[in-house]
Amino acid sequence: MTKSVCLFNHKGGVSKTTTTFNLGWVLANHGHKVLIVDLDPQCNLTGLVLGYSTVENGKMEGFYSSRENLTMKPVVEAAIKGSEPDIFIKSENGKLFPTENPGLFLLPGHLNTSDLDSQISVSLKIASGVPATKNVPGALPEILHKISKKEDIDYVIYDLSPNVGGLNEVIVMSSDYFIIPTSPDYFCLQAIGSLEKNIRKWHRDIIRFIEDNDFSKANFPIHNNPKFLGAIQQRYRPRKEKPAKSFQKWIDIIRESINENLVPSLAKIDCVVDGERMNTALENTDLEPYDLAHIPDFNSLIAISQQLSKPVFSLTDAEIAEVGRVFGHAEKTMQISRDNFKTVFADLCARVLILTS
Ligand SMILES: Nc1ncnc2c1ncn2[C@@H]1O[C@H](COP(=O)(O)OP(=O)(O)OP(=O)(O)O)[C@@H](O)[C@H]1O
Ligand SMILES: [Mg+2]
Repeated sequence: MTKSVCLFNHKGGVSKTTTTFNLGWVLANHGHKVLIVDLDPQCNLTGLVLGYSTVENGKMEGFYSSRENLTMKPVVEAAIKGSEPDIFIKSENGKLFPTENPGLFLLPGHLNTSDLDSQISVSLKIASGVPATKNVPGALPEILHKISKKEDIDYVIYDLSPNVGGLNEVIVMSSDYFIIPTSPDYFCLQAIGSLEKNIRKWHRDIIRFIEDNDFSKANFPIHNNPKFLGAIQQRYRPRKEKPAKSFQKWIDIIRESINENLVPSLAKIDCVVDGERMNTALENTDLEPYDLAHIPDFNSLIAISQQLSKPVFSLTDAEIAEVGRVFGHAEKTMQISRDNFKTVFADLCARVLILTS
Protein backbone atom coordinates (compact mmCIF):
# COMPACT_ATOMS: atom_id res chain seq x y z
CA MET A 1 0.00 0.00 0.00
CA THR A 2 1.27 3.47 -0.89
CA LYS A 3 2.36 5.72 1.97
CA SER A 4 1.98 9.42 1.28
CA VAL A 5 4.26 12.04 2.80
CA CYS A 6 4.16 15.76 2.19
CA LEU A 7 6.83 18.34 2.81
CA PHE A 8 5.08 21.46 3.99
CA ASN A 9 5.90 24.85 5.42
CA HIS A 10 4.11 27.96 4.18
CA LYS A 11 7.40 29.80 4.70
CA GLY A 12 9.24 29.96 1.37
CA GLY A 13 12.76 28.80 0.57
CA VAL A 14 13.20 26.33 3.44
CA SER A 15 14.25 23.41 1.21
CA LYS A 16 10.88 21.69 0.65
CA THR A 17 11.65 20.97 -3.00
CA THR A 18 15.28 19.97 -2.49
CA THR A 19 14.32 17.63 0.37
CA THR A 20 11.48 16.06 -1.63
CA PHE A 21 14.01 15.12 -4.31
CA ASN A 22 16.70 13.97 -1.86
CA LEU A 23 14.38 11.99 0.40
CA GLY A 24 12.72 10.38 -2.63
CA TRP A 25 16.15 9.41 -3.93
CA VAL A 26 17.35 7.72 -0.70
CA LEU A 27 14.04 5.88 -0.26
CA ALA A 28 14.42 4.59 -3.83
CA ASN A 29 17.99 3.51 -3.05
CA HIS A 30 16.48 1.36 -0.30
CA GLY A 31 14.52 -0.59 -2.90
CA HIS A 32 11.23 1.33 -2.64
CA LYS A 33 9.34 2.53 -5.67
CA VAL A 34 8.93 6.26 -5.11
CA LEU A 35 6.89 8.93 -6.87
CA ILE A 36 7.65 12.61 -6.26
CA VAL A 37 4.84 14.96 -7.25
CA ASP A 38 5.37 18.61 -8.16
CA LEU A 39 2.30 20.44 -6.86
CA ASP A 40 3.87 23.89 -6.99
CA PRO A 41 2.95 25.99 -10.07
CA GLN A 42 6.52 27.35 -9.94
CA CYS A 43 7.55 23.80 -11.06
CA ASN A 44 10.90 23.93 -9.22
CA LEU A 45 10.93 20.18 -8.56
CA THR A 46 10.32 19.55 -12.26
CA GLY A 47 13.18 21.91 -13.09
CA LEU A 48 15.44 20.15 -10.62
CA VAL A 49 14.79 16.71 -12.13
CA LEU A 50 14.64 17.67 -15.82
CA GLY A 51 17.38 20.27 -15.69
CA TYR A 52 16.60 23.98 -15.37
CA SER A 53 17.36 24.66 -19.04
CA THR A 54 14.36 22.52 -20.06
CA VAL A 55 11.97 24.60 -18.01
CA GLU A 56 13.53 27.95 -18.91
CA ASN A 57 13.88 27.39 -22.64
CA GLY A 58 10.17 26.85 -23.18
CA LYS A 59 10.65 23.18 -24.06
CA MET A 60 8.05 22.21 -21.49
CA GLU A 61 5.04 22.51 -23.83
CA GLY A 62 6.39 19.76 -26.08
CA PHE A 63 7.02 17.73 -23.01
CA TYR A 64 3.43 18.20 -21.81
CA SER A 65 1.93 17.31 -25.16
CA SER A 66 3.90 14.05 -25.37
CA ARG A 67 1.61 11.06 -24.89
CA GLU A 68 4.47 9.18 -23.34
CA ASN A 69 4.55 10.72 -19.88
CA LEU A 70 1.93 11.58 -17.34
CA THR A 71 2.14 15.17 -16.02
CA MET A 72 0.04 17.33 -13.71
CA LYS A 73 -1.59 18.97 -16.75
CA PRO A 74 -4.28 16.32 -17.42
CA VAL A 75 -4.53 15.59 -13.70
CA VAL A 76 -5.42 19.24 -13.00
CA GLU A 77 -7.86 19.36 -15.94
CA ALA A 78 -9.60 16.22 -14.73
CA ALA A 79 -9.80 17.49 -11.14
CA ILE A 80 -11.32 20.81 -12.29
CA LYS A 81 -13.85 19.07 -14.58
CA GLY A 82 -14.69 16.57 -11.87
CA SER A 83 -13.95 13.66 -14.30
CA GLU A 84 -13.95 10.10 -13.05
CA PRO A 85 -10.54 9.50 -11.38
CA ASP A 86 -10.50 6.10 -13.08
CA ILE A 87 -9.41 7.66 -16.39
CA PHE A 88 -5.87 7.55 -15.01
CA ILE A 89 -6.03 3.81 -14.53
CA LYS A 90 -6.00 3.26 -18.29
CA SER A 91 -2.49 2.69 -19.61
CA GLU A 92 -2.76 5.13 -22.55
CA ASN A 93 -2.89 7.99 -20.10
CA GLY A 94 0.85 8.08 -19.79
CA LYS A 95 3.84 6.42 -18.24
CA LEU A 96 5.51 7.75 -15.14
CA PHE A 97 8.42 10.02 -15.91
CA PRO A 98 11.72 8.31 -14.98
CA THR A 99 14.64 10.02 -13.22
CA GLU A 100 18.36 9.17 -13.11
CA ASN A 101 17.49 6.83 -10.21
CA PRO A 102 15.66 3.70 -11.47
CA GLY A 103 13.38 3.53 -8.41
CA LEU A 104 12.40 7.21 -8.47
CA PHE A 105 9.69 8.71 -10.71
CA LEU A 106 8.38 12.25 -11.16
CA LEU A 107 4.91 13.59 -11.78
CA PRO A 108 5.94 16.88 -13.42
CA GLY A 109 4.19 20.07 -12.37
CA HIS A 110 2.17 22.56 -14.43
CA LEU A 111 1.26 26.23 -14.15
CA ASN A 112 -2.46 25.29 -14.20
CA THR A 113 -2.10 23.95 -10.67
CA SER A 114 -2.78 27.51 -9.47
CA ASP A 115 -6.23 27.45 -11.18
CA LEU A 116 -7.09 24.29 -9.31
CA ASP A 117 -5.85 25.89 -6.09
CA SER A 118 -8.36 28.74 -6.37
CA GLN A 119 -11.21 26.40 -7.37
CA ILE A 120 -10.60 24.19 -4.35
CA SER A 121 -10.45 27.21 -2.03
CA VAL A 122 -13.80 28.52 -3.34
CA SER A 123 -15.45 25.12 -3.25
CA LEU A 124 -14.36 24.46 0.35
CA LYS A 125 -16.24 27.65 1.28
CA ILE A 126 -19.37 27.55 -0.86
CA ALA A 127 -20.05 23.91 -1.76
CA SER A 128 -22.97 23.50 0.61
CA GLY A 129 -24.73 26.39 -1.23
CA VAL A 130 -23.50 25.40 -4.71
CA PRO A 131 -23.54 21.58 -4.70
CA ALA A 132 -22.15 21.37 -8.27
CA THR A 133 -18.71 22.22 -6.87
CA LYS A 134 -18.70 19.77 -3.98
CA ASN A 135 -16.54 17.15 -5.71
CA VAL A 136 -13.65 19.54 -6.46
CA PRO A 137 -11.76 19.37 -3.10
CA GLY A 138 -11.60 15.57 -2.95
CA ALA A 139 -10.83 15.09 -6.67
CA LEU A 140 -7.06 15.72 -6.67
CA PRO A 141 -6.27 13.52 -3.62
CA GLU A 142 -8.37 10.75 -5.10
CA ILE A 143 -6.73 10.90 -8.54
CA LEU A 144 -3.22 10.96 -7.02
CA HIS A 145 -4.11 8.06 -4.79
CA LYS A 146 -5.38 6.02 -7.77
CA ILE A 147 -2.27 6.77 -9.84
CA SER A 148 -0.01 5.62 -6.97
CA LYS A 149 -2.06 2.48 -6.51
CA LYS A 150 -2.04 1.62 -10.21
CA GLU A 151 1.74 2.11 -10.38
CA ASP A 152 2.44 0.14 -7.18
CA ILE A 153 4.16 3.10 -5.56
CA ASP A 154 5.54 2.47 -2.05
CA TYR A 155 6.09 6.13 -1.16
CA VAL A 156 4.54 9.17 -2.80
CA ILE A 157 6.08 12.48 -1.72
CA TYR A 158 4.30 15.78 -2.40
CA ASP A 159 6.22 19.00 -2.91
CA LEU A 160 3.97 21.95 -2.08
CA SER A 161 4.19 25.68 -2.73
CA PRO A 162 4.71 28.13 0.16
CA ASN A 163 1.13 29.20 0.89
CA VAL A 164 -1.97 28.16 2.82
CA GLY A 165 -4.33 27.86 -0.16
CA GLY A 166 -6.96 25.20 -0.85
CA LEU A 167 -4.69 22.85 -2.78
CA ASN A 168 -2.18 22.65 0.06
CA GLU A 169 -5.06 22.18 2.51
CA VAL A 170 -6.47 19.12 0.71
CA ILE A 171 -3.05 17.58 0.06
CA VAL A 172 -1.74 18.00 3.62
CA MET A 173 -4.99 16.80 5.18
CA SER A 174 -5.25 13.79 2.84
CA SER A 175 -1.62 12.66 3.31
CA ASP A 176 -0.66 9.90 5.72
CA TYR A 177 2.32 11.87 7.06
CA PHE A 178 3.89 15.31 6.88
CA ILE A 179 7.34 16.74 7.54
CA ILE A 180 8.12 20.42 8.17
CA PRO A 181 11.40 21.63 6.66
CA THR A 182 12.69 24.68 8.53
CA SER A 183 15.68 26.97 8.50
CA PRO A 184 17.23 28.23 11.74
CA ASP A 185 15.97 31.83 11.84
CA TYR A 186 13.33 34.05 13.37
CA PHE A 187 10.94 33.82 10.38
CA CYS A 188 10.78 30.05 10.71
CA LEU A 189 10.01 30.34 14.40
CA GLN A 190 7.08 32.60 13.48
CA ALA A 191 6.00 30.13 10.79
CA ILE A 192 5.80 27.25 13.31
CA GLY A 193 3.28 29.27 15.37
CA SER A 194 1.06 29.99 12.40
CA LEU A 195 1.38 26.43 11.05
CA GLU A 196 -0.10 25.12 14.28
CA LYS A 197 -3.15 27.43 13.98
CA ASN A 198 -3.48 26.70 10.33
CA ILE A 199 -3.49 22.91 10.52
CA ARG A 200 -6.07 23.01 13.31
CA LYS A 201 -8.22 25.32 11.19
CA TRP A 202 -7.88 23.00 8.16
CA HIS A 203 -8.89 20.09 10.36
CA ARG A 204 -12.06 21.91 11.46
CA ASP A 205 -12.79 23.04 7.88
CA ILE A 206 -12.65 19.50 6.53
CA ILE A 207 -14.91 18.12 9.26
CA ARG A 208 -17.44 20.83 8.47
CA PHE A 209 -17.09 20.28 4.72
CA ILE A 210 -17.74 16.54 5.06
CA GLU A 211 -20.80 17.15 7.24
CA ASP A 212 -22.28 20.01 5.20
CA ASN A 213 -22.02 18.05 1.97
CA ASP A 214 -23.20 14.68 3.31
CA PHE A 215 -20.01 12.78 2.44
CA SER A 216 -19.26 9.55 4.23
CA LYS A 217 -16.29 10.26 6.53
CA ALA A 218 -14.90 6.74 6.04
CA ASN A 219 -14.86 6.96 2.23
CA PHE A 220 -13.92 10.60 1.75
CA PRO A 221 -10.45 10.89 0.10
CA ILE A 222 -9.33 13.51 2.64
CA HIS A 223 -8.79 11.42 5.79
CA ASN A 224 -8.04 14.54 7.86
CA ASN A 225 -5.44 12.90 10.16
CA PRO A 226 -1.99 13.41 8.63
CA LYS A 227 0.64 12.43 11.19
CA PHE A 228 3.41 14.93 11.87
CA LEU A 229 6.77 13.11 11.64
CA GLY A 230 8.99 15.98 12.68
CA ALA A 231 11.01 18.90 11.39
CA ILE A 232 14.20 18.99 9.36
CA GLN A 233 16.56 21.84 10.20
CA GLN A 234 18.44 22.96 7.12
CA ARG A 235 21.10 25.22 5.75
CA TYR A 236 23.07 26.19 8.81
CA ARG A 237 26.80 26.88 8.82
CA PRO A 238 28.66 24.18 10.71
CA ARG A 239 31.66 24.69 13.02
CA LYS A 240 33.57 21.60 14.07
CA GLU A 241 30.75 19.41 12.73
CA LYS A 242 28.10 21.17 14.87
CA PRO A 243 25.91 24.14 13.94
CA ALA A 244 27.69 27.45 14.59
CA LYS A 245 26.49 29.11 17.81
CA SER A 246 24.17 31.66 16.21
CA PHE A 247 22.41 28.87 14.26
CA GLN A 248 22.30 26.48 17.24
CA LYS A 249 20.35 29.12 19.16
CA TRP A 250 17.55 29.15 16.56
CA ILE A 251 17.63 25.38 16.15
CA ASP A 252 17.01 25.06 19.92
CA ILE A 253 14.27 27.70 20.03
CA ILE A 254 12.44 26.21 17.05
CA ARG A 255 12.70 22.68 18.49
CA GLU A 256 11.30 23.94 21.79
CA SER A 257 8.39 25.61 20.05
CA ILE A 258 7.66 22.39 18.12
CA ASN A 259 7.78 20.19 21.23
CA GLU A 260 5.98 22.53 23.60
CA ASN A 261 3.35 24.05 21.31
CA LEU A 262 2.97 22.38 17.94
CA VAL A 263 3.08 18.71 18.99
CA PRO A 264 0.65 18.94 21.98
CA SER A 265 -1.76 20.96 19.86
CA LEU A 266 -1.63 18.54 16.91
CA ALA A 267 -1.97 15.58 19.29
CA LYS A 268 -5.43 16.88 20.29
CA ILE A 269 -6.62 16.35 16.72
CA ASP A 270 -4.74 13.05 16.25
CA CYS A 271 -2.22 14.53 13.82
CA VAL A 272 1.07 13.37 15.40
CA VAL A 273 3.00 10.15 14.91
CA ASP A 274 3.03 7.72 17.81
CA GLY A 275 5.47 8.78 20.61
CA GLU A 276 6.91 5.28 21.11
CA ARG A 277 7.70 4.98 17.43
CA MET A 278 9.44 8.35 17.65
CA ASN A 279 11.61 7.08 20.51
CA THR A 280 12.57 4.00 18.47
CA ALA A 281 13.41 6.13 15.44
CA LEU A 282 15.71 8.41 17.43
CA GLU A 283 17.37 5.68 19.53
CA ASN A 284 21.17 6.05 19.68
CA THR A 285 21.11 9.57 18.24
CA ASP A 286 21.55 12.90 19.99
CA LEU A 287 18.36 14.20 18.35
CA GLU A 288 15.36 15.29 20.42
CA PRO A 289 11.83 14.07 19.57
CA TYR A 290 10.41 15.47 16.30
CA ASP A 291 13.90 16.50 15.21
CA LEU A 292 14.27 14.37 12.09
CA ALA A 293 17.59 15.61 10.75
CA HIS A 294 20.05 18.49 10.83
CA ILE A 295 21.32 19.29 7.35
CA PRO A 296 24.09 21.86 7.01
CA ASP A 297 24.62 24.10 3.99
CA PHE A 298 25.55 22.13 0.86
CA ASN A 299 27.97 24.91 -0.16
CA SER A 300 29.52 24.42 -3.58
CA LEU A 301 28.20 20.84 -3.94
CA ILE A 302 24.75 22.30 -4.67
CA ALA A 303 25.87 23.79 -8.00
CA ILE A 304 27.23 20.43 -9.24
CA SER A 305 24.17 18.65 -7.95
CA GLN A 306 21.78 20.97 -9.82
CA GLN A 307 23.81 20.79 -12.99
CA LEU A 308 23.61 16.98 -12.98
CA SER A 309 20.06 16.67 -11.55
CA LYS A 310 21.39 14.43 -8.78
CA PRO A 311 21.39 14.90 -5.00
CA VAL A 312 24.67 16.13 -3.46
CA PHE A 313 25.22 12.82 -1.64
CA SER A 314 25.04 10.78 -4.85
CA LEU A 315 27.75 12.67 -6.76
CA THR A 316 30.71 10.51 -7.77
CA ASP A 317 34.37 11.51 -7.27
CA ALA A 318 34.69 11.97 -11.02
CA GLU A 319 31.62 14.24 -11.19
CA ILE A 320 32.95 16.40 -8.36
CA ALA A 321 36.31 16.77 -10.08
CA GLU A 322 35.04 17.31 -13.64
CA VAL A 323 31.89 19.38 -13.12
CA GLY A 324 33.18 21.21 -10.04
CA ARG A 325 36.56 21.79 -11.74
CA VAL A 326 38.42 21.24 -8.49
CA PHE A 327 41.56 19.35 -7.57
CA GLY A 328 43.85 18.80 -4.59
CA HIS A 329 42.65 20.01 -1.20
CA ALA A 330 39.38 21.53 -2.50
CA GLU A 331 38.50 18.26 -4.23
CA LYS A 332 39.20 16.23 -1.09
CA THR A 333 37.12 18.63 1.05
CA MET A 334 34.16 18.26 -1.31
CA GLN A 335 34.43 14.46 -1.28
CA ILE A 336 34.42 14.42 2.53
CA SER A 337 31.44 16.75 2.58
CA ARG A 338 29.59 14.51 0.05
CA ASP A 339 30.26 11.49 2.32
CA ASN A 340 28.94 13.35 5.36
CA PHE A 341 25.73 14.18 3.48
CA LYS A 342 25.45 10.52 2.48
CA THR A 343 25.37 9.59 6.18
CA VAL A 344 22.93 12.40 7.06
CA PHE A 345 20.44 11.34 4.37
CA ALA A 346 20.83 7.59 5.04
CA ASP A 347 19.99 8.32 8.71
CA LEU A 348 17.01 10.48 7.72
CA CYS A 349 15.77 7.71 5.44
CA ALA A 350 16.12 5.10 8.22
CA ARG A 351 14.09 7.32 10.59
CA VAL A 352 11.35 7.92 8.03
CA LEU A 353 11.14 4.16 7.37
CA ILE A 354 10.70 3.42 11.09
CA LEU A 355 8.19 6.22 11.62
CA THR A 356 6.06 5.16 8.66
CA SER A 357 6.27 1.39 9.21
N1 LIG B 1 21.04 22.37 2.64
C1 LIG B 1 21.14 23.32 1.70
N2 LIG B 1 22.31 23.99 1.50
C2 LIG B 1 22.44 24.93 0.56
N3 LIG B 1 21.45 25.31 -0.25
C3 LIG B 1 20.25 24.71 -0.12
C4 LIG B 1 20.02 23.69 0.85
N4 LIG B 1 18.74 23.28 0.73
C5 LIG B 1 18.21 24.01 -0.26
N5 LIG B 1 19.09 24.87 -0.77
C6 LIG B 1 18.89 25.90 -1.82
O1 LIG B 1 18.01 26.87 -1.25
C7 LIG B 1 17.08 27.34 -2.23
C8 LIG B 1 15.67 27.06 -1.74
O2 LIG B 1 15.50 25.65 -1.66
P1 LIG B 1 14.15 24.96 -2.15
O3 LIG B 1 13.76 25.47 -3.50
O4 LIG B 1 14.32 23.50 -1.99
O5 LIG B 1 13.17 25.54 -1.04
P2 LIG B 1 11.58 25.52 -1.05
O6 LIG B 1 11.15 25.50 0.37
O7 LIG B 1 11.07 24.46 -1.92
O8 LIG B 1 11.25 26.94 -1.71
P3 LIG B 1 9.79 27.46 -2.14
O9 LIG B 1 9.10 27.86 -0.89
O10 LIG B 1 10.08 28.61 -3.07
O11 LIG B 1 9.10 26.33 -2.84
C9 LIG B 1 17.43 26.62 -3.52
O12 LIG B 1 18.26 27.46 -4.28
C10 LIG B 1 18.19 25.39 -3.06
O13 LIG B 1 19.13 24.97 -4.02
MG1 LIG C 1 9.75 24.58 -3.56
